[in-house]
Amino acid sequence: MNLFTYRGGNLQVEGLPVADLAVRFGTPAYLYSAGTLRTHYERLATAFRPLEPLICYSVKCCSNLHILKLLAACGSGFDVVSGGELFRALRAGAPAEKIVFAGVGKSTDELEEALRAGVGMLNVESASELEQLADVATRLGLPLRVAIRIVPEVDAKTHSYTTTGTRQNKFGVTIEETRTLFERFGRHRQLTLCGLHIHIGSPVYDPQSYVAAIERTLALRDALARAGHAVDTLDIGGGYGAEYKGGESPDAAAYAAAILPLLQGSGLKVVLEPGRAIAANAGIVVTRVLHVKDTGSRRFVITDASMTELIRPALYGAYHFIWPVAVGEHVPANYAPEQPFEGLTVCDVVGPVCESGDFLAKDRALPPVRRGDLLAVFTAGAYAMTMASQYNTRPRAPEVLVDGTEARLIRRRETYEDLIAPELV
Ligand code: LLP
Repeated sequence: MNLFTYRGGNLQVEGLPVADLAVRFGTPAYLYSAGTLRTHYERLATAFRPLEPLICYSVKCCSNLHILKLLAACGSGFDVVSGGELFRALRAGAPAEKIVFAGVGKSTDELEEALRAGVGMLNVESASELEQLADVATRLGLPLRVAIRIVPEVDAKTHSYTTTGTRQNKFGVTIEETRTLFERFGRHRQLTLCGLHIHIGSPVYDPQSYVAAIERTLALRDALARAGHAVDTLDIGGGYGAEYKGGESPDAAAYAAAILPLLQGSGLKVVLEPGRAIAANAGIVVTRVLHVKDTGSRRFVITDASMTELIRPALYGAYHFIWPVAVGEHVPANYAPEQPFEGLTVCDVVGPVCESGDFLAKDRALPPVRRGDLLAVFTAGAYAMTMASQYNTRPRAPEVLVDGTEARLIRRRETYEDLIAPELV
């Protein structure tokens, strides 16, 4: 579900024409739909309601303060992975006890920040980190609830860069070592070792991958209980899918249908860390065509958006549906690469950055586009702005939040002065 729709051949976000927003805020720009964010949050909350989970939106996917506030108002907690994300979540007004702090390497300063803030749970990913945390907690004399992120040894079949649940990946602690850590730290004065955490990859389109990982985690919970260690919280991570090509992702209810039977009646507090499933389809990048050129072997549509606004195609070969904002008759069918129209031209959609890897789409059939036209790059609400860079000294693009017929600038476009400000030392 999303609120980016064509009306009369023109793309709208909720009640506003994208073309008007492009003029008002300039291009490239990130446009988000508040209604879509709320609906996606509610769908997950409804689907998993029988477990009464704590939903901790994964800040890394789209971390704008205003979006965090919107989700906090829906009842969301937050999954953070750095001191910076913790700072954002707290600044957005999130109660600390609804924040979980993960990440494979945290600095001593970050651990201190988590302890002083009193986060709800901190997920550790190595024996070394647990030793470090125990030292910091003892020095500060502050308590903390701690989970071990385990390696469930499930290959979730995502892109290799975003698979996290196997021994080939840097994340987590093996099941054997987790038992040893409970023996060593299970009765620590400050630390309450009471949780198990898994996150098997992102996006995970097969709900059975969660089933396999959760089954292993529950078996470990039982083994720990037999050894006298009580686990009361299970954080099952994120990775729930979004629509990039249309129709490829199970919906919240389908994930819940697979997962609920395993956890209902388990007595465990359940934490979910969805990011993309909430934000991805709630955002687009709107970009203007700077030039169209043919080299004899390829047609290039050169846009003012590039890998600096959306690195996913360059980094993972990720597919993002791209279509003109004004299309006349060519109203597209979902996000499919193959559109049911005659007369499309195969193009590469590329940015102005000085890299041949700077592309938004390759070999993409598009309706005729000309210099000055606007294009929409869909499913860009997650891992777009948060992975943006200033490469080629490009100011980062603004973010705009549309709610009904209101558009609010929630991050201004950076200026040239912003780009050099930290260097004026
Ligand atoms: N929890 C943990 C511990 C994670 O590492 C992640 C994502 C999430 C939750 C949220 O995953 P989501 O529900 O958003 O799929 N840049 C990549 C994705 C990297 C994901 C990193 N961890 C991309 O653009 O696809």
